[in-house]
Amino acid sequence: MINRLIANALPLLPERVVWLFSRSYIAGETVDKAMRACRTLNDGGIKTTIDILGEFIRNLDEAEKNRDEYLSLIDVAQHSGIDGNYSVKPTMFGLLIDADVCYRHIREIVAKAAGFGNFIRIDMEDSNCVDLEIHLFRRLKAEFPESVGLVVQAYLRRTLDDLKGLMDLHTPSVPLNFRLCKGIYAEPRRIAFQHHAEINAHFLEDLDFMLQNGIYPGIATHDRALVDGALALIDRYDVPRKRYEFQMLYGVAPELRRTLVDAGHTMRVYVPYGRHWFGYSTRRLKENPKIVNSIIKSLLLSR
Ligand code: FDA
Repeated sequence: MINRLIANALPLLPERVVWLFSRSYIAGETVDKAMRACRTLNDGGIKTTIDILGEFIRNLDEAEKNRDEYLSLIDVAQHSGIDGNYSVKPTMFGLLIDADVCYRHIREIVAKAAGFGNFIRIDMEDSNCVDLEIHLFRRLKAEFPESVGLVVQAYLRRTLDDLKGLMDLHTPSVPLNFRLCKGIYAEPRRIAFQHHAEINAHFLEDLDFMLQNGIYPGIATHDRALVDGALALIDRYDVPRKRYEFQMLYGVAPELRRTLVDAGHTMRVYVPYGRHWFGYSTRRLKENPKIVNSIIKSLLLSR
């Protein structure tokens, strides 16, 4: 209840105050700030995936601007020698306005990254987008088999079936590359598990399927129980280090992150940046007030 009140009040507060909540998990407004954050992470042995903040645009002019911003980000990051790839949210390119225009914009971004031998991850958004984003992934994967990956959400009841349904795209020489996360949007019980225990159980079931079938998983969680569960599966199937990675959000759970890095596991941090941090932070909090706890905790821990 208190979390919901805080989350609803945040958009009414001055930007400066919201920034206090947001600054620990957003790299900054500019590409320079993002590069600085990535370099610091790289220096600590951590790879990155860079995300330009924004989603749910109102018109297709914004989609073009977002495409151009990503194309220029890729130029800057590649020439800066950053050890990292890129994450995109398809609604930022008009997925819900004109899926074909969205495909063409993201195709240009993937082609650019592929030219550098790099990789674009399609983030998974709310349940209205899941079929469209899987379809988008299939089209891009056909043309750029090594340069595109997708996110799957363990809270969705359908996810294990989606994984099985995507296996036709998998080959041992070019494995599917999926980030597995719990899922951040507020979704109805009909389609999504609601309780921590059932989401975690499904997360490990999905991961088990991925590891047994040679899919390269980005294990995206800060939940110690899931990290332990993932390590147990990696051990059980004797998965070599280069066949999986852990992923965490910028500014979250730095101690757990360090433990995994020190033990020699590949770690990638999601680095969001951009002008739209205010709308992004407040929307996320309104959608899922439970994050308030996490943010307050991370603010306290990072001081
Ligand atoms: P859980 O929510 O149980 O958190 C475990 C602990 O981690 C908390 O107790 C808290 O200490 C800390 N924590 C978690 N989130 C925090 C936060 N935001 N701030 C501060 N502390 C926090 N979702 C989605 O729907 N589509 C997507 O494409 C992605 N992409 C993505 C990329 C990466 C790299 C990560 C790590 C996560 C995502 N997510 C996502 C978000 C994901 O679905 C999920 O909401 C969060 O990771 C939180 O879930 P945990 O597994 O960390 O567990």
